[in-house]
Amino acid sequence: MTIFNLDTTLLDFENFLLSHTPKAQSFHPHFQEAVWEMVKCGGKRFRPALLLSVAGNYNPSIIKEAFYPALAMEILHTFSLIHDDLPSIDNAPLRRGHPTLHTRYGEVTAILSGDFLNSYAFYLLTISGLEDRVISRLTHSLSRGSCQMIVGEALDCEFEGESLGLRKVEQIHRLKTAYLIATSLQMGAIIAGVDRLEEQKLWEFGEKLGVFFQIRDDLVDALQSATQAGKPTQSDGEKNSYVTLLGLEGARKEFDSYVRDLQTMLQGLQNPNLQITLSKLLEKYWQEI
Ligand code: IPE
Ligand code: IPE
Ligand code: MG
Ligand code: MG
Ligand code: MG
Repeated sequence: MTIFNLDTTLLDFENFLLSHTPKAQSFHPHFQEAVWEMVKCGGKRFRPALLLSVAGNYNPSIIKEAFYPALAMEILHTFSLIHDDLPSIDNAPLRRGHPTLHTRYGEVTAILSGDFLNSYAFYLLTISGLEDRVISRLTHSLSRGSCQMIVGEALDCEFEGESLGLRKVEQIHRLKTAYLIATSLQMGAIIAGVDRLEEQKLWEFGEKLGVFFQIRDDLVDALQSATQAGKPTQSDGEKNSYVTLLGLEGARKEFDSYVRDLQTMLQGLQNPNLQITLSKLLEKYWQEI
């Protein structure tokens, strides 16, 4: 019987990622290189790790097919980062420890690279070799998560410089970040054929985890250096972040309360091996920044 191990699976996934970056499709001098640059230069691979944890613990034999949706999720997320960094959005020069695409290649290439990755994510689902019914549910899940992320980004930009209350800020965090994180767990559940009740539990856990992840990111902005974070920090001053809204101590309290709730929710999941994998994965995220 195949036993699932997240660490070795993520190493295999990284090789899979490198071998699924198509070569130049035109005579453009650098477009194809630019498209894959941000995907290849790292990041925490948090969303694929969640997807693969669920799929692999419930159905280890399906892990190779699960690499396609895991990569789809990661490149859709990378599209969101490339566009988030654009001069008209967050105007960031650094991402994943590298110069952002618009800094290196110009805005046109950055915008179009994001567009390319957004479409390519769905193409990857179609070549996964999974059953049509499963591909259809994955497409539904990923496209909905992506639209929610885009609405979240629109709200985040629209209300920059204007202070919103906690409920609205939480709603923005849910839209721009949490739904795609919940979607990662849901896609794992769809691939493995997990029952709908457990899928719902995973979704609720993911939604909470996603808001937590963005609160943590707000704290990273306030407390880490650009070198530690791999992206500019101290740049959320005009944003509706948990730190600008509640102050450092208030944001930390929220952080602690989310950790407690998430740890309880984790114990409520059906599959004990998934509980172990996720506890191990999330351990470093629970720690104080
Ligand atoms: C950054 O996401 C954007 C947020 C939603 C906070 P990650 O923190 O997962 O970024 P990478 O993928 O590790 O670069
Ligand atoms: C962005 O939130 C979330 C996305 C949908 C990309 P942030 O703007 O806080 O993410 P970072 O800090 O630039 O990674
Ligand atoms: Mg942003
Ligand atoms: Mg940003
Ligand atoms: Mg941030």
